[in-house]
Amino acid sequence: MKGLILSGGKGTRLRPFTYTGAKQLVPLANKPVLFYAIEHLVAAGISDIGIVVGDTGDQIRAAVGDGSLLGARVTYIQQDRPLGIAHGVKIAETFLGKEPFVLFLGDNFIREGIVPLVDQFRSGGANSLIILNRVKNPCDFGIAECVDRRVVRLVEKPREPKSDLAVTGIYMFDQNVFRAVNSIKPSARGELEITETIQYLIDNQFQVAAHFLENGSCWIDTGKMEDILEANRLVLEVLAERLEGFMDESSEICGRVVLEPGSEVINSVIRGPAIIGQRTRIINSYVGPFTSINHDCLVSDSEIEHSVVLENSRILGIRYRIENSLIGRNVEVARSPMKPRAYKLVLGDFSKVGLL
Ligand code: DAU
Repeated sequence: MKGLILSGGKGTRLRPFTYTGAKQLVPLANKPVLFYAIEHLVAAGISDIGIVVGDTGDQIRAAVGDGSLLGARVTYIQQDRPLGIAHGVKIAETFLGKEPFVLFLGDNFIREGIVPLVDQFRSGGANSLIILNRVKNPCDFGIAECVDRRVVRLVEKPREPKSDLAVTGIYMFDQNVFRAVNSIKPSARGELEITETIQYLIDNQFQVAAHFLENGSCWIDTGKMEDILEANRLVLEVLAERLEGFMDESSEICGRVVLEPGSEVINSVIRGPAIIGQRTRIINSYVGPFTSINHDCLVSDSEIEHSVVLENSRILGIRYRIENSLIGRNVEVARSPMKPRAYKLVLGDFSKVGLL
């Protein structure tokens, strides 16, 4: 089997984060969400992987390279415009050939991986396998309507959803999918929809199997800001402790914490689960649970928890605790003379904020 990861698209829902960065490179526990997809494919025995890229292709190429560091062999497929997920499949036909494949949306995260799902598809004999998960906001997803656990209809982001079963961004297909993507027409929003592709397969008597994720399974579409904190939390929950940085005698670390090489903790408290990136310094500060601070950051005389901070950012002398915040790259958050009431931050790359 081969893998196809879609890493183009616009990322408008993640702005301002994605004005300058690819949304698939937003880190969870300091590792880009896209890397988890690649690692899950490799763990399922799939190392020949195509990555569809768009405007942010250079960043994706710079981060993933030829894939060898992750155990994969990556072929890049350029999509000139984001004309839909099924369009991404269509332009990958030469790469995929006649092999069955896993289609993985590059902003989707599934903590438990895909090994049993790939096994189910390999042994099941269906033409396609889709993975379904109950959601609270069905209007935001492709939704499946089922009869006796058999999928009969798929609707993309319905206004009046008939079920709460979202189609997750992990799909498996055999070569018959190309008949579908070459037959369907662009939707009202001008995209070749993956839901219509699968509907074509159902309507033309191909076998579309469904896997229902168990309650409590950890799947997240990280395409929206609020979901990143949640996905970050899911990864940190199972992160193994690793203390490769420096911590002075007046500091305290409790719970599961990762100190990456070159990090320094001086006169501070880190309460896990949390990760402190390479060369990042935490000075006279508190870092609380479910926080990921990326490489080359400085947190000084401040408190932060349940937050994600991207690389090269600085948080200096903030009197009140920062919570539930996403802080982009090269951001500086520093004190300014007036009193603050509360901090709740969504900061884009290269932002500079002077707080009261
Ligand atoms: O996350 C699951 C949902 O993903 C499904 O329930 C929906 O049926 C499916 O349409 C999709 O919806 P989204 O609105 O989340 O798709 P989005 O536009 O965010 O694109 C998903 C990924 O595919 C993202 O990494 C960008 C990439 N992409 C998207 C398009 C439209 C491309 O590479 N090229 C494209 O043309």
